[in-house]
Amino acid sequence: MFPTNLLTLSFIFTSLTFAQDCTLQFDGRIPGTLTAAGFDATNQFFGSGNVFGAGLAFSQLIQLPAIAGSLFDTATVPLEVTISDQSIFNAQTGFRRAELIPASNSGTDASTTGIKTLHFSLMKDAQRPLNLSHEYQLVFLESNDFSTNQVVLKTGTVLGKATADPDTLQLFGNVNDGGGKVLFSTPFAAGAFHNFAVTLDFDALTTQVFFSTGAAPLKAVTQAVANDVSGQGQFHFGVLKKPTDGGADITKSGFQEAGIDEGVIFGGIFQEDSSDNCVSLSA
Ligand SMILES: *[C@@H]1O[C@H](CO)[C@@H](O)[C@H](O)[C@H]1NC(C)=O
Repeated sequence: MFPTNLLTLSFIFTSLTFAQDCTLQFDGRIPGTLTAAGFDATNQFFGSGNVFGAGLAFSQLIQLPAIAGSLFDTATVPLEVTISDQSIFNAQTGFRRAELIPASNSGTDASTTGIKTLHFSLMKDAQRPLNLSHEYQLVFLESNDFSTNQVVLKTGTVLGKATADPDTLQLFGNVNDGGGKVLFSTPFAAGAFHNFAVTLDFDALTTQVFFSTGAAPLKAVTQAVANDVSGQGQFHFGVLKKPTDGGADITKSGFQEAGIDEGVIFGGIFQEDSSDNCVSLSA
């Protein structure tokens, strides 16, 4: 009797803490059967129309590296977003960029209302290293009126900020608040997935960060801190490379060297409903 109870208790504790089945808002975890060309067609995972350079298509920039999945990729596979000299979107000649946006994320949908937790994992590609003289945005929520990023994960030399070590992942809050407060930062080590969960309370206007590397379960690394996440918008996952110097409008000016062949590997992109405090810490 006693051992049985103990077992039951420990099982319940484990299921509550590490394997919650939270309601999904969107799921960008892709099956191994999806090809790069599959990103050009309408699909259930990501929008096929943008963001990528004029004249390009996702099939020219998505790579499907044959590596093990991330923490939440139990039956799904990682993908890589790459940029080249051709990655000039919407005449933004100061940027080189390519990003995936979840298929259901219109800018005014429920992914930016209530309380939601955004999950993603990312890893360096040793074959396509970033140039840390530049600032990169790898994951961000851009408001529906394009006036701000309410949360943004950056690496490299962040413009307007003192960057002690550019080989760092820095998660900033709303950039209209003095360029954004650093909510969490961690070294961007080679050869391992960096797993993030970011709980966005669109009512209380707070953000809480969870983090782990490799196969370790997520742990809270911040409390829910004040951060203006209002304004709805779209979640971007990819590589947005800024110029090293830009003047008044860095979207249109500034230095970008030629010969770009850079990429970042993503896994486990999904969002869950956390209105009942449900946050998955491992798969
Ligand atoms: C890194 O970027 C800087 C600024 O664009 C450039 O001068 C330098 O050549 C780049 N380094 C490499 C290795 O590409």
